[in-house]
Amino acid sequence: MIEVRGRRRGVTDVPTWLRRDGPVDPIAVLSVARQVAAHLSEGPAGAGGRAAARRLRWLLGVHAVGLAGLSGTVEWSGRPVDEAAALELAAAAPHSEKFTGKPGLAAVPLIVDHEVTGVLVVDGPSAGKAVREAAWLVENALERRHGEYTTVADEFEAIETYLVLQRAVMGERLQVQIRVVPDVLAVPLPYLVLQPLVENAIRHGLEPLGRGGTVQVQGEARNGDCVISVEDDGVGMAPAEVAALLAGKATGRVGLSNVDRRLRTAYGPWYGLVVETERDAGTRVLVRVPLSQPGVLPS
Ligand SMILES: Nc1ncnc2c1ncn2[C@@H]1O[C@H](COP(=O)(O)OP(=O)(O)OP(=O)(O)O)[C@@H](O)[C@H]1O
Ligand SMILES: [Mg+2]
Repeated sequence: MIEVRGRRRGVTDVPTWLRRDGPVDPIAVLSVARQVAAHLSEGPAGAGGRAAARRLRWLLGVHAVGLAGLSGTVEWSGRPVDEAAALELAAAAPHSEKFTGKPGLAAVPLIVDHEVTGVLVVDGPSAGKAVREAAWLVENALERRHGEYTTVADEFEAIETYLVLQRAVMGERLQVQIRVVPDVLAVPLPYLVLQPLVENAIRHGLEPLGRGGTVQVQGEARNGDCVISVEDDGVGMAPAEVAALLAGKATGRVGLSNVDRRLRTAYGPWYGLVVETERDAGTRVLVRVPLSQPGVLPS
């Protein structure tokens, strides 16, 4: 069990309830927690609700997970054994403090900024314990939606933590170079922009090589923008494949397109991701954000 301590508790921390039977790959858990956060960017009842529920079900190892917004409809992943009881519980949960029903079934309100924003329902062994811990993860993701910006400094800190974990798994095979100029440390950045890119560099770039390699992350100021590059000397990709990914044509692969979309939404089309790659030639992904962003305050 690896415990990560950061400056504040965020979705990249490994929660204590992951002491499930058998070995748990902390990297897989971090990755899934990050995906849950991304899928919840439109709230518990948003378009990503079902995908978030599916990943939570995997994390918890339970029969079914349901996510409901305030309108009452529940997005299920899996089927609760007693669906009527589960729905009844979901309907009751916003009005009561942490509410636990029959054995195997539990529902809790999702409270963000002191307000109920939805309900989480879990059906499975140890549902009562699992639901509270999962609620923490979901509330954390929803809370971050309110404060959407962090700083370059915080994102670099988060990826350093991530890379320390990765080195624990891969050892010397993973070489890491992180460099950031002080001028850009305070620049606001939408949260969790870099981690998915670093994760890709290792998982898709270096791991298939078998022999390891180098990941470089660099941040600097260039022509009025803050430019951050994430580079690996791994297997690379066919440029056409990247174009299809960024066009959102690959289902179930949310990392790149999600980061790209969030950057464009925040700053305009000029600020989409730039991916430089070729098969067998490694990959460099460039993130650009304006150096000065009036009105944006990191939370
Ligand atoms: N640095 C890289 N080197 C080689 N291939 C990459 C790299 N980054 C991404 N890819 C390829 O692009 C695909 C899409 O990446 P993306 O992050 O969007 O989805 P994913 O990693 O498959 O899933 P997830 O949604 O968990 O991130 C990957 O499956 C991989 O084939
Ligand atoms: Mg990815």
